[in-house]
Amino acid sequence: MSVGSLLANNAPLANLPVARQEARPVPPDRASRAAVARRPEFTMPKITYIDAQGTSRTVEGETGSTVMEVAVRNGVPGIEAECGGACACATCHVYVDDAWSEKAGHAEPMEEDMLDFAFDVRPNSRLSCQIRVRDELDGLVVRTPARQG
Ligand code: FES
Repeated sequence: MSVGSLLANNAPLANLPVARQEARPVPPDRASRAAVARRPEFTMPKITYIDAQGTSRTVEGETGSTVMEVAVRNGVPGIEAECGGACACATCHVYVDDAWSEKAGHAEPMEEDMLDFAFDVRPNSRLSCQIRVRDELDGLVVRTPARQG
């Protein structure tokens, strides 16, 4: 029986064939930042990166990602992140602004060991791949060194 004959005979809608539609997941690269921002568990704290020449860039970072990932995703220069965040290269070195050092936390022993390989290490040095973005870090300011490695 065709759909046309079902409609012509006033058949109940429940008898009509239903086109099958498979639910297709949205690839991560196509998911919009706006959609992520609408989900209540994700907020977008602002992070400011200041390079060695004094140029300041403020971007939004998703909670749960790292300060390094936010920089790389937004094309912030001065953070190379050669190991991809495995705490194994020290090319994501930043200086945490003094006002944020307590909230950003202190380096764990493994991070401190890796900082030995970074350029121009200071008391406020951190590896940005080890700083997790959280709501309380909204407004965080970090500076990048003159060079990495
Ligand atoms: S990205 Fe390699 S140590 Fe942070």
